[in-house]
Amino acid sequence: MNGTGKTFYITTPIYYPSDKLHIGHSYCTVAADVMARFKRMQGYDVMFLTGTDEHGQKIEEKAKAAGVTPQAYVDHVVAGIKDLWKLLNIANDRFIRTTDDYHVESVQHIFKALYDKGYIYKGTYKGKYCTPCESFWTESQLKDGKCPDCGRDVTDAEEEAYFFRLSQFAEPLMKYYEEHPDFMEPQSRLNEMVNNFIRPGLEDLCVSRTSFSWGIPVTFDPGHIVYVWVDALSNYITALGYGNDRYHDFEKYWPVDVHFVGKEIMRFHSIIWPAMLMALDLPLPKKVYGHGWLLLEGGKMSKSKGNVVDPVVLVQRYGVDAIRFFLLREFPFGSDGLFSNEGLIARINADLANDLGNLVSRSVAMAEKYFPEGLPASRRPEPIDEEVLSIARSLRDNYEAQMENYAFQNALIEVFKLISRTNKYIDETTPWVLAKDEANRDRLATVLYNLLECVRICGILLCPFMPATSPKIFQQIGAPAESTTYEAAGQWGLLPAQVQVHKGEVLFPRIDVAKELEELENARQAAIKAAEAATPKAEPVPAPEGVATLITIEDFAKVEFKVAKILACEPVKRAKKLLRLELDDGSGTPRQVVSGIHTWYEPEDLIGKKLVLVANLKPAVLCGVESNGMILAADAGENDVKVLFVDDSIPCGAKVR
Ligand code: ME8
Repeated sequence: MNGTGKTFYITTPIYYPSDKLHIGHSYCTVAADVMARFKRMQGYDVMFLTGTDEHGQKIEEKAKAAGVTPQAYVDHVVAGIKDLWKLLNIANDRFIRTTDDYHVESVQHIFKALYDKGYIYKGTYKGKYCTPCESFWTESQLKDGKCPDCGRDVTDAEEEAYFFRLSQFAEPLMKYYEEHPDFMEPQSRLNEMVNNFIRPGLEDLCVSRTSFSWGIPVTFDPGHIVYVWVDALSNYITALGYGNDRYHDFEKYWPVDVHFVGKEIMRFHSIIWPAMLMALDLPLPKKVYGHGWLLLEGGKMSKSKGNVVDPVVLVQRYGVDAIRFFLLREFPFGSDGLFSNEGLIARINADLANDLGNLVSRSVAMAEKYFPEGLPASRRPEPIDEEVLSIARSLRDNYEAQMENYAFQNALIEVFKLISRTNKYIDETTPWVLAKDEANRDRLATVLYNLLECVRICGILLCPFMPATSPKIFQQIGAPAESTTYEAAGQWGLLPAQVQVHKGEVLFPRIDVAKELEELENARQAAIKAAEAATPKAEPVPAPEGVATLITIEDFAKVEFKVAKILACEPVKRAKKLLRLELDDGSGTPRQVVSGIHTWYEPEDLIGKKLVLVANLKPAVLCGVESNGMILAADAGENDVKVLFVDDSIPCGAKVR
C-alpha cells in the first residue's frame, strides 16, 4: 500500500504552556501519534500537527506572578513540553506556537477578512468571563452561577468589543451535521452539542478583548486583542500556510481528516471553528473526535487539585512503550477512564510481561535451544495449527477495521486475542516434549515457525503503539525488513523458512506490585516538588541569615492554623511512612489528614492529643488517600521529627496566630 498518494492530516489541541503537562494531556498526543504512525504504515502521506497555545490573560498573569515576561515564561514551559513529546516518542511533523510570527500574521489576516466580509462587527460586551478557561458566558449558560466548564467563579465583564456573527450559523451547522453524520465522534457528542448549544440558540461571540495585552492585536484597532480561541483555532490552518508564506501545504492537507480534542473543548471545535471556516469559505473538518478524560479518584487531573500524574516519572519507571500501550489499552478513547497506579501496574504485568513478553521470550528461547543453527526447512503441519493460523490470517483486517474507527482499545484487544491464543498453542503442542524425540523434528520446527510468525504479525500491528518495542521483537525473531511492513502483516509465512532467532533482553520485566506502589507515590511527590522548584520565580528578597525567605504579613495571613484533636489514627496501606489521622477541627465534621510521621509515631502515641493543623491547604491524594490539610512538626534532630502538640485546654478549632 506504500505510496498511495493519499494524505492524512491529524491534529491535537494546542496546549496551554501554563504548567507542566500531566498524563491526561499526554493521552491525546499519544493517541494522535499512534494514529499518525498507523496511517504512515498504511502508506499515507501524513501531517501530524501539535503545538502550544501561548496567548491570553492566564499566561500573562502567571508570568507576572513569576516576575518574568510572558514570552520568557512560555519559552521555558514550551521547551519542557517539547522534551515531553520527545520522551513519549511523539513523531509530530510540525509544531506550532501561537507566538510564531507567521501565525500572528495569519490570524490578523483571518480577523480582517472576517471583518471585511461583515461577519465581525463592533459592539459592547456585557456578561461573565472565566479567566482560567478564557471563556465568555452569558448568565443563562452558567451552572449554579459558576463557569459551566470548570466550575470556578466568573467575573462581570463589560467593554467595547468585536463580535462574530455566530448566531447566523445555527442552521448551516445543523445542515452540515445532518449531511455528515460522522463529523462528530463519539456520536453522543453530537447530541450534546445540538441539545446544549445549538437548540437553546447561538448568540454572537465576543472575539476581542481590551483588558489585557498578551495576544494578537487587531490590525485595524490595535487596542483590541483577538480572542484567544479565534487565535488558537486558526492554528490548524496557519500551520499549513494559510495566510502566510512560511508553509505551503494548505491545498495538500486541508480539510483535516481528524481533530482530536478533549470533550470539554468539543464546543469550540464543532460549532465555533466550523462557523469560522464557513465564514471564510473554507471546507470544514472531516471529523472532530472528542475523547474522554483521564480521571483520578476525586475528579479530573489538575494542578490546582494537586492530583496530577507526571508522565516523566511514569516513563522513567516503566518505559515509554508500556505507558503508551497502557493509555490506549486501558480506556475506550471516547469515554472517561479512571487512572490508577494499581491499574497501570496490573496492565503491564498481565499484558506486557506475561502475555506478550512471555510469548516472545518462550518462542525465541525454544527456537534457539532446539535449533541453534536456525530452523530446518521441512515442516509437518497438523490440524491443531489451524485455529491459530486462521486468527493470525484475519488479524490485520480486524485490527484495521477498529483502527479506522479510532477504537484503539479494540484494535489492541484483537492483537492480544492472537497473543493469548498463541500462548495456549504452546501449551497444547508442548514443544519441549516434541524436542525429546528426533522423529518429531519437522513437527517441532513447524510449531516454532508458527509461533514466530504469530509474533511477527503482532509485532507489526503493535508498532504504532510501541514503536521502540516492535523493532526489538523483529530483531529477536530474525524478521527481515520486508516481512515487517503493514502489507506483510496480512500475509502468513513471510519469515524465511530457515529463520535464525537472536535471544535478546526481557522486553517487559514483571513488577513487584506492593513495593512499586509505595515507590511510585514517593516519586510522584518528589516530581511535584521538583516541578515547583523549576518554575521561574520572581527574584526573592534576600533574607537574613538563618531565615529561608522573607514573606509579608499578608502572605502569612493567608495560612489558616487551627488547633485540632486526633480522634483516630491508622497506618496507610502500602505506605510505610504514612499515617491517616482523623481530626476534630471544631467544625463538627471529622477531617482526614495524611502525614508522613509513621517513622516516629505509632497511632497509639497520637490518639487523643491536640496539635496544630494547616487548615486551608489544597487537598492532595497520598497513596490513594485524600489529605485535607497538614499537621505541624519540627525537625528535632538529624533523623528525628516531633509533632507540635498543644495544651489540652485549648478548644478544637481555636485559631493559631
Ligand atoms: O484546552 N484527560 O489547552 P489545555 C484527558 N489551549 N485529556 C485532558 C486531561 C485529562 N485529565 N486534562 C487535559 C486547551 N486534557 C486549549 C486548546 S485547541 C485550538 C486549544 C486535554 O492545555 C484537554 O481535554 O487546557 C484538551 O483537549 C487538551 O488536554 C489541552 O488542554
